Amino acid sequence: MGTQFKRTLITTALPYANGPVHIGHLAGVYVPADIYARYLRLKGEEVLMIGGSDEHGVPITIRAKKEGVTPQDIVDRYHYIIKKSFEDFGITFDIYSRTTSKTHYDTASEFFRILNDKGEFIEKTSEQYYDEEAKQFLADRYITGKCPHCGNENAYGDQCEACGTSLSPTDLINPKSAISGSVPVMKETRHWYLPLDKWEPFLRQWILEGHTEWKSNVYGQCKSWLDMGLQPRAVSRDLDWGIPVPVEGAGGKVLYVWFDAPIGYISNTKELRPDDWETWWKDPETKMIHFIGKDNIVFHCIVFPAMLKAEGSYNLPENVPANEFLNLEGDKISTSRNWAVWLHEYLEEMPGKQDVLRYVLTSNAPETKDNDFTWKDFQARNNNELVAILGNFVNRVLVLTWKYFDGRVPAMNELTGYDAETLKEFAGVKAAVERQLDAFHFRDAQKETMNLARIGNKYLTDTEPWKLAATDMDRVATILHIALQITANLAIAFEPFLPFSMEKLNQMLNIVPLDWGRLGATDLLPAGHLLNRPELLFEKIEDEVIEAQVQKLLDTKKANEEANYTAKPVRDSIGFDDFGKLDIRAGTVLECTKVPKADKLLQFKIDDGLQKRTIISGIAAYYKPEDLIGKQICFIANLAPRKLKGIISEGMILSAEDADGTLAVIMPEKVVKPGSEVK
Ligand code: 2FM
Ligand code: ZN
Repeated sequence: MGTQFKRTLITTALPYANGPVHIGHLAGVYVPADIYARYLRLKGEEVLMIGGSDEHGVPITIRAKKEGVTPQDIVDRYHYIIKKSFEDFGITFDIYSRTTSKTHYDTASEFFRILNDKGEFIEKTSEQYYDEEAKQFLADRYITGKCPHCGNENAYGDQCEACGTSLSPTDLINPKSAISGSVPVMKETRHWYLPLDKWEPFLRQWILEGHTEWKSNVYGQCKSWLDMGLQPRAVSRDLDWGIPVPVEGAGGKVLYVWFDAPIGYISNTKELRPDDWETWWKDPETKMIHFIGKDNIVFHCIVFPAMLKAEGSYNLPENVPANEFLNLEGDKISTSRNWAVWLHEYLEEMPGKQDVLRYVLTSNAPETKDNDFTWKDFQARNNNELVAILGNFVNRVLVLTWKYFDGRVPAMNELTGYDAETLKEFAGVKAAVERQLDAFHFRDAQKETMNLARIGNKYLTDTEPWKLAATDMDRVATILHIALQITANLAIAFEPFLPFSMEKLNQMLNIVPLDWGRLGATDLLPAGHLLNRPELLFEKIEDEVIEAQVQKLLDTKKANEEANYTAKPVRDSIGFDDFGKLDIRAGTVLECTKVPKADKLLQFKIDDGLQKRTIISGIAAYYKPEDLIGKQICFIANLAPRKLKGIISEGMILSAEDADGTLAVIMPEKVVKPGSEVK
């Protein structure tokens, strides 16, 4: 507290390398971290931004098993896809490495060894599920069974995905091993535990008293963990994928993925700066900030700090500005359900529009609560803000400068009161943006920045230089001089948010990128400076483009519904005699009408080969009466007549109905004589 920091170490959650990255990753972690890193660099501060792939853990082994490949194959595939997506979106990592690197392996093993030698672990034996056929202990995810809460037959040992309840494997009814399908047995196993309870008094003091400035969602989650009381946590697992526990006789045991992953931040710093990595981790003048999503809070605010504290020589994070979740069109983003906007697909479908997505995700960032991404909002923010405010302002200024001054910055003449007011107003934007960025309020920071473009747009609209060209060129020169200074200010202030577009703008302004310190200045472009020819910064996104994206999601939804579909279970068996009692016939529809005042019912007149019979059927939602007239249908002919809406129904029309209630009438495959028996 009160420390003057000399440098900032920014860490970003290491995404699991078992799938590509999507907009939720970008919005929650990487765009805010990148904005912050770019902002500090523009200020001339010393910064490192550390990233990498998290390549251990059970889900990766499950995916590998499903595909019949090794876990290493899986992480090799996704590590490079993820890395490229981040590069494509301009996320400026100083290093993006991986937890299967040699440096990480050594660093994590060493970290464990130090804690073990210091006696910071306790060793405990407990009973866990074991698969006798596969001869291995089962991670919670490897056990499936019936959910005790909702009855879902395919719940996992850690969670039921149907009702969202957290479970432990022993909660499952009829547990089964996902590896061999056999019934697992309980078997004793020995593990290393980090006694978090020992660190509880320290953590309470450090967070609850020392970091009251942390975001309320982060502080609140820490408080509730601490208030519940901390328990020792196992830091090893029985698994064959991961970093082996570096202790003799610990065969078959690896470090728990959540023990090794945060050490990845250290390993990757070491890989990048082998000579001075310790300055970044141990010098108290280094400020460490962890950018993460809300599901990672406990690991970064409680478990990892306890590990660092137990080791004894490391800094603790100064802040952990975790975000909540971003949903997609009202539904939780899900890799397994393919409910996501994948970054690599977005770029294929919207080439060159990285900044549009960065802008929309920041405008709508889930900073204080879960938020929703919709394609309609994406279109509106592009068309009404990026195009109509920022792009329009910049374009008007540059086009007018070329039109009246051959692309040279005109000199400023006498100022009006309004000019002076405008200059003063935009000089104030710097402090406003900084205040928000320093507090990790990236949405508000971006809003303040857009305000500067609004000021510029209003200034042009109010002063109308195009109307003055015939009468007062001195005045036109002053107005454009001021508008050009605003434009150059925008190129600084928007750089952290819209780096691709600001690079383009700097090129149009024919300047090298300016430092943050110059923000607010009114002399960024001297009179006489020659600009380059303008191009549009942003373009309107048409309805068809958005409709195609929405359609893609609807197709996904449909495919998911089909994949999840299960028919109803078969009823109790019956004897042949019972079946023989049914007299099922084919008949021809002579008439078909809607039953008045009954939405669901159709009234049929059927030729059954003997007579014309009336049948009422509840299929009005699926058929128009005129579409059935002349068709042949099947019906139960010997069902006792019953009265429906005052009409006697003499039988029942047969149809096929799926478990979701969609219905189709059964018809003979070719025309048959009315009254033919159905057997
Ligand atoms: O939740 C996740 O995606 C984890 N892979 C994050 C790890 S963050 C860190 F500790 F490496
Ligand atoms: Zn359930």
